[in-house]
Amino acid sequence: MNTADIRRRFLEYFQRRNHLVLPSAPLVYNDPNLLFVNAGMVPMKPYFLGSEPPPAPSATSVQKCVRTLDIEEVGKTTRHGTFFQMCGNFSFGEYFKAGAIQSAWELITGTTDSGGLGFDPESVWVTVLAPGLHPNLPDGDKEAAGLWHEIAGLPAERIQFRALADNYWSMGIPGPGGPNSEIYIDRGPQYGPDGGPVVDEDRFLEIWNLVFMSDELSQVRSKSDFDIAGPLPKPQIDTGAGLERIAYLLQGKDNMYEIDEVYPVIAKAAELSGRRYGADHDDDVRMRVVADHVRSALMLIGDGVVPGNEARGYVVRRLLRRVVRSMRLLGVGDPSFAELFPASRDVMAGSYPEVASDFDRISQIAYAEEEAFTRTLSAGTQIFDTAVASVRGSGGSTLPGDQAFQLHDTYGFPIELTLEMANEQGLGVDEAGFTALMDQQRERAKADARAKKGGSGASDGYRQLRAAGETRFTGYSALDGVSRVRGIIADGAVVDRAEQGATVELVLEESPFYAESGGQDADTGVISGDGVELTVTDVQRPVKGLVVHTVEVTSGELLTGAELQATVDGAARLAACQAHSATHLVHAALRQVLGPTAVQAGSYNRPGYMRFDYSWNAGVDREVRDQLESITNAAVRDDLAVSAREMDIDQAKKLGALALFGENYGDRVRVIDIAGGDYPETWSRELCGGTHVQRSSQIGVVSFIGEGSVGSGARRVEAYVGYDAFQQLATERALVAGLSEMLKVQPDQLTDRVTRMVAQLKDAEKEIARLRGEQLRNSTADLVASAKDMWGVAFLGQQLPDVAAGDLRQLAMDLRSKIDRPAVVALVGGTAEKPAVVVATNEGARDRRLAAGELIRPACEALGGRGGGKADIAQGGGTNGAASDEALRAVEYAVGHVLQNG
Ligand code: ALA
Repeated sequence: MNTADIRRRFLEYFQRRNHLVLPSAPLVYNDPNLLFVNAGMVPMKPYFLGSEPPPAPSATSVQKCVRTLDIEEVGKTTRHGTFFQMCGNFSFGEYFKAGAIQSAWELITGTTDSGGLGFDPESVWVTVLAPGLHPNLPDGDKEAAGLWHEIAGLPAERIQFRALADNYWSMGIPGPGGPNSEIYIDRGPQYGPDGGPVVDEDRFLEIWNLVFMSDELSQVRSKSDFDIAGPLPKPQIDTGAGLERIAYLLQGKDNMYEIDEVYPVIAKAAELSGRRYGADHDDDVRMRVVADHVRSALMLIGDGVVPGNEARGYVVRRLLRRVVRSMRLLGVGDPSFAELFPASRDVMAGSYPEVASDFDRISQIAYAEEEAFTRTLSAGTQIFDTAVASVRGSGGSTLPGDQAFQLHDTYGFPIELTLEMANEQGLGVDEAGFTALMDQQRERAKADARAKKGGSGASDGYRQLRAAGETRFTGYSALDGVSRVRGIIADGAVVDRAEQGATVELVLEESPFYAESGGQDADTGVISGDGVELTVTDVQRPVKGLVVHTVEVTSGELLTGAELQATVDGAARLAACQAHSATHLVHAALRQVLGPTAVQAGSYNRPGYMRFDYSWNAGVDREVRDQLESITNAAVRDDLAVSAREMDIDQAKKLGALALFGENYGDRVRVIDIAGGDYPETWSRELCGGTHVQRSSQIGVVSFIGEGSVGSGARRVEAYVGYDAFQQLATERALVAGLSEMLKVQPDQLTDRVTRMVAQLKDAEKEIARLRGEQLRNSTADLVASAKDMWGVAFLGQQLPDVAAGDLRQLAMDLRSKIDRPAVVALVGGTAEKPAVVVATNEGARDRRLAAGELIRPACEALGGRGGGKADIAQGGGTNGAASDEALRAVEYAVGHVLQNG
């Protein structure tokens, strides 16, 4: 039974039992605190939490999931995959324990002819929560144990009781939770000892987890330490079955890497490397890593994630780099993605056709990353070698954590690569130091994401106010209106009043204020009436259907139930509409110029300003940039009509409306068309909930302020729009006028004049350098004479400000050969910000055990940098030129130390 077949059986089984079949959500889902969707219930959260009404009493899905916590385990165990598919059935208060157990049992053990999976009933084991582990659950889940016995006829010995950590499930935060029951299949004695899952989870393989959500948790401190506030109003069911695990059992394979959806990549890796799968344990692990990671990267890039250095992008980057590294360890140094990715595409396209239709874009991104990393590998290896030399030089045996972090952060070296390379050199790595720095970086990224999200996170308050129905947005057609105050939230709780001076969250029955979404910033304005005046500083939609205004009570007292007049700042709104429509124009222009693989990666607009990010691997030269800008402004000039209409998502897709990857659009969507003139059909068509001008000419002008790379694989266009664009152009015009006055030429001659001046300056600099070199060579006699004697060795230390490192080196070699006794020459030059130092010894000095490579270290330390070299000559530098004198004294001291102590 191939994997797609099992997937279909699962959905069809529950569909026959009146479950609504929901499509998989994209791997990147609305929640900024969640890296990737990691369980089938993630898209169902609003229904479980009660913040949105469920679309049906029960539902089923096969959800794409990515978990990266276990990335090190991939390939080593039989069952860890970074990408996997979770089959689930969900009941939002319809059926509970008995129903969930009944259907799981039927589906697992039902015959294949009747649509079941055909597992032997004798091989099934289950676990349930043991009694006496939590004050609110004195009986544990004896109820579930009883049901397993009644419904499935399982004997007592195949129903095992386990701890809270195994058999109580929560989201790790206050909210719903409950005992869970896990279903295991016995693979047979050849896979491990008897005794059931409590003894061995490899022989007894978990395939399905049934969560009986029945409690409201008020505190969650850990998996086994939480407080239960009371029962949920309606108990609910969340289940998760591992599609890959079921597949490898039914396909008679030993692990998840050998199933039909994964193995073809292993076969390809074996073919490319000329090594046989199954011949060598380490090679097998590498091939499985390759197969798993290629598939995960394919699916992630397919869902719009591009390799980068932050959070999600970094995961994809890490996966791709681990593939490169594993292929190298398999002896394949040449690019291999162009063979591996198509192999994965061909088997995944059956269930996910978009990986085939979008393969050009996906593969371009992956192949570019392979190429970039191959280059990085050679550059980083040099840095690594220097770091190793410096550890050795100081007699250490551990590469410091900050160096490992730097290799990772700047050169993209995965830590395992650094570990492995250090190991080859007989060195350790300060992993704790590295991890601490990584944690700090991650915390920063998370805090950023949280700060961006806005809203106070008052989920209880939102739920309460949302329960009274949707709050309507009237702002597409109106900029003001009267509405009743439905509720006020202060410090996370619903209150009925707020005093002057307070900042609170306010929910109106309906509002003309646009809540931040789709990259468009929130409206600003005032709300007043009934003796109260409020300033609106932010507007968010923390749960679907609920608009929440953050307001400051500037005068009077705000009361629930008051009838207030809401007024959006009209000028700011117009400028926001200009910016948002301009974003659509730029998007369409980009596709006209660069083609459909220039896919939107994100956008942001606020009154007068817009920014548009898109994935693109190559450079974009000036001409193309200018072309983009002029196409955009031609569309403004052409006075195209901008129109909005609502339709079903399927129809919108059919019409070719552009949508954003990873965005959760509902069934009904809003489509913005820009059309007219030479494009009566459509100039631009996008799914969009934002606000727009009515005709493109109302934008006025779009003036680019930048187009450039923002990390590998992504670029950004930034522009001012409307009056802000005029102001920017006026400022630039004033700048040009000022320059032309200063240089006393007409503006159109400025370029010529400046070009000539730059050329003259370069010539002059060259001449100065030549004269300085000459002067130096003439002064060698004086310098030689200034050397002082230290126990029979001539020491010459000299500061030579502004002399470049190359000249210093030449001069130092000159000087040492002009001294006919043992001699050490130390010269410090360069600039105050970037001082350079060179130390040279002649043979006589080296006979006295004076080595330049050692003597230079304390000097570099003084300069705040690093350096090294051989016994006869060494060079280095730093960042603190003010310490030049100290650096020379440090060398002198080191010479004295060697000569006195031998
Ligand atoms: N949400 C449950 C899990 O992830 C089914 O195991």
